[in-house]
Amino acid sequence: MERISFVNGKFLPHSQCFVHIEDRGFQLADGIYEVILFKNNKLIDIDWHLERLFRSLSELEIKFNHNKNYLREIILELFAKNNLQDGSVYLQITRGVAPRQQTFPTNYTTTITATVSPLKESNPEETINGLVATTHQDIRWQRCDIKSISLLASSWIRQKTVEAGANDAILVRDGFVTEATFANVFIVDKKGTLITRNADHFVLRGITRNRLIDLAKKNGIAVLEKKFTVDEMFDAKEVFLSSTTLLVRPVCKIDGKVIGDGKVGEISKKLFTLYNQFIEN
Ligand code: PDD
Repeated sequence: MERISFVNGKFLPHSQCFVHIEDRGFQLADGIYEVILFKNNKLIDIDWHLERLFRSLSELEIKFNHNKNYLREIILELFAKNNLQDGSVYLQITRGVAPRQQTFPTNYTTTITATVSPLKESNPEETINGLVATTHQDIRWQRCDIKSISLLASSWIRQKTVEAGANDAILVRDGFVTEATFANVFIVDKKGTLITRNADHFVLRGITRNRLIDLAKKNGIAVLEKKFTVDEMFDAKEVFLSSTTLLVRPVCKIDGKVIGDGKVGEISKKLFTLYNQFIEN
């Protein structure tokens, strides 16, 4: 059966879902998105995702005529129509169709699209041995807190990184780590403190990140939200990435340097378990 997707109020076979050639998302990347996990028929941290989505819309001044419940219902219906109990949804909202112009149009109707996918099997080797990363200058714009669909810089960096044989790039701005191409970065220092960059304009306030901070605090792990340098990261006992699709993904080698003892660390394992318990329940 062909999967069903959503476009502007309609649930249609995926191959029949189209948007106009003058959609501002297509021409100017003028839009925002969310990726949300669905596990055992439940949307994980949906309230936080919808809150972030409305914040992204508001920061870009995209006028949107629907409420959170409308989007929640679309997503649930899409999973039901695709007969999926686990998966992820990609939801995108753009400023809609208008003759190409540099400024924002005054009258427009947002374009809403959504697709669901089954969960990917994680590669056991990566989960056991961790990922290999390289560092890369953070060449993205200065509002990475907005979940904008303008992802060419991240995609380009990821492509070059994978071509060079690594799994992901850790982005660096002014000597400080920001995040990975599509994930937040955590380190565990020699004292066992979990550190991730504070949520300024240079990182996305990841939902998985926020949930992990909460779970860590509730389970006696000290947490600091602060900027850290590349050298602090190389010196750390553990490094891992977090995102809706990666969950908790340890990184064991960066720029050829082994992190800690080169194996997946205790805190990464503990948070991986805690997060999996959280989404299973
Ligand atoms: N990306 N930072 C960036 C730049 C991201 O693109 C993402 C997620 C995250 C983690 O956010 P969250 O925990 O809310 O997924 C951090 C999604 C998964 C994507 O673009 O596919």
